[in-house]
Amino acid sequence: MSEAHKHAEVASRTAEFMVMERSKPFGWGPEHFVEWATVVSMVHAAGLSRGSRILDVGCGVGWTTLFLAESGFAAVGADLVPANIEAARERAERWGSDARFAVADMESLDLPGEAPFDAVLFFDALHHTSRQRQGLTAAAAHLRPGGVLLLGEPTWLHRLSPHARWTHRELGWLERGLTLRGLRADLAAAGFEGVERHFQGTRPYHGARGFLAQLARLVGARILAAPQHHLWVSARRRA
Ligand SMILES: C[S@@+](CC[C@H](N)C(=O)[O-])C[C@H]1O[C@@H](n2cnc3c(N)ncnc32)[C@H](O)[C@@H]1O
Repeated sequence: MSEAHKHAEVASRTAEFMVMERSKPFGWGPEHFVEWATVVSMVHAAGLSRGSRILDVGCGVGWTTLFLAESGFAAVGADLVPANIEAARERAERWGSDARFAVADMESLDLPGEAPFDAVLFFDALHHTSRQRQGLTAAAAHLRPGGVLLLGEPTWLHRLSPHARWTHRELGWLERGLTLRGLRADLAAAGFEGVERHFQGTRPYHGARGFLAQLARLVGARILAAPQHHLWVSARRRA
């Protein structure tokens, strides 16, 4: 690890910080469940069947990996931060889940002994590396030919968000946002084809103002980018 932001990712996971983190997504904002529904929709669209092997890169405390395992997939989660992997393993044990977890940097994805995966998921993780193309190349190396990449990351608007700026300033994390153009170029260079966009539904809302805000976000996401909406993309590793 050379970059300060990676050290900051590890150092920021103090015992105090992990108290809240360990409960994710329960008791967190509803957006995580809307986003999860989008992942499920992409999994179905990719035709992944029960038993498929899925690698969840930047899995954090592992809730998405655990949800995948509960859905019948052979799921492996990988994250840079040892405290996250420790929390994920504890939760897997509590749930009686056979999800597996490993500490790994997404830029190299050193996962000895793992057979090729049918799918690799980046959910809210790729925007924390400055080496996006390297991360995608590492993911491709872990996919079988024709295997699918599923990706849900903040758009370029994320860089402007007050929360991302606060996180960068106070915790030292790298908070990029992705552009579709940059992503397409890096996917092609990393050996992917068949790039498809997907779209998440609205957040829960109430009242006329809530409706208008959601409408604006849906239309904005379709055209270019919208605040708080992710860029959802799937692609296949070239055979
Ligand atoms: C916003 S969290 C999302 C975690 C999880 N995907 C979720 O949705 O709850 C981003 C995750 O990326 C991880 N991460 C950051 N840089 C990484 C790297 N270079 N390699 C692997 N994981 C990394 C962080 O430790 C963190 O768990």
